[in-house]
Amino acid sequence: MRIDIRQMVLAISNAVDLVGVADVFHGRRVGMMAAECARMLGWDTTTQRLLFDAGLLHDCGVSSTREHRTIINELEWTGANLHCEKGYGLLRDFAPLAHLAPIVRYHHTRWEDLAGLSVDPSVARHANLIHLVDRVDALASPYYQNETLLLHVDDIRDLISHHRKQLFAPDLLDAFLAAATPEAFWLQLDPAYIPQYVEDMERFREVRVGSMQELKQFALLIARIVDAKSHFTAEHSLGVARLTRFLGQQAGFGGDHLEKLEIAALMHDIGKLQVPDELLESPAAYSPAERAVMKKHSFASYQILRRIDGFEELALWAAQHHESLNGKGYPFHNEAEKISLEARIIKVADVFQALAQRRPYRAPMPVPQILDLLRKMQAENEVDGTIVDTVARHLDECRKAALGDAA
Ligand SMILES: [Fe+2]
Ligand SMILES: [Fe+2]
Ligand SMILES: [Fe+2]
Repeated sequence: MRIDIRQMVLAISNAVDLVGVADVFHGRRVGMMAAECARMLGWDTTTQRLLFDAGLLHDCGVSSTREHRTIINELEWTGANLHCEKGYGLLRDFAPLAHLAPIVRYHHTRWEDLAGLSVDPSVARHANLIHLVDRVDALASPYYQNETLLLHVDDIRDLISHHRKQLFAPDLLDAFLAAATPEAFWLQLDPAYIPQYVEDMERFREVRVGSMQELKQFALLIARIVDAKSHFTAEHSLGVARLTRFLGQQAGFGGDHLEKLEIAALMHDIGKLQVPDELLESPAAYSPAERAVMKKHSFASYQILRRIDGFEELALWAAQHHESLNGKGYPFHNEAEKISLEARIIKVADVFQALAQRRPYRAPMPVPQILDLLRKMQAENEVDGTIVDTVARHLDECRKAALGDAA
């Protein structure tokens, strides 16, 4: 599989932005503003792009919608460093993005504190610029949706200027004030223009094809972000991927095909990043409105994954994990002939792993009961009987694959 690393970066950025729920452009706006300030500072195009990327990914340590709300509503708060460290840890482990990790680590550190931290001077400045435009976006966020942003621009500039030297480096602040004088700076942040800006930024990038190893690391990075959303779903994606791999082997898959199947499983729930925490953690049965929100997630996974060239097939395997052979699943209502064996395996692995884990409304289900339930689903023609047979033959191995160390 030949996958362009840039498309992976954009996919991670789209996924991370989903955590904004109704406003899914925070990372992209921060990237745009950082690139504009870098241009104003006379930094070269490579550095402008570096700042753009750092903006896109700076909040990859935030998976919870509750935490995202804090980030957008407060200028400073205790515990801000938590998501910086998390993001740092995630990016550091993924070679193609490891150079962004230190910038992410310090994107909530005050300028006056950075000097004492023996941080590389250019990292300190890049991190501080992200900090600055990140806070600008937090201040501006109430006005994007109601078209009143231009009325508040002066207040935002004033508020940010109060933190010269303490929070923000004076020359970075001046560059921001200069860059943000024309209306165009603010108008381009409208959701209608953001995709255009991103496209322009990407136009002259070199294509760099990732190896299978990098692809797997990319999928793991996504899985770690998704699984960090709630303690109820900790390791869900990792467990689904392990079980998928095991069931795939039993079905005779091997080599790159098996890797690809595992990668799809790792990423099947990317779209869940947009589901509010309150819903995932609700102990009550979902209302029709809540169920409607929940049903968006596998479609969102599909939309993010299918835009990566080379992922067309894999995107479908991942996105069909709530489809049923009887045509009554969602979001496509696909019937059996349109649901591949790969997708059927991921579906069974997803059901198995979820049932084996604690949920707010029930205890972890013992394995024999999981099998009973899968048999019922088979009788309703929801899941593939041959895969359920495999599960029945290897119950304990399935349990260990689904639960990992927790088993
Ligand atoms: Fe942010
Ligand atoms: Fe799902
Ligand atoms: Fe899932």
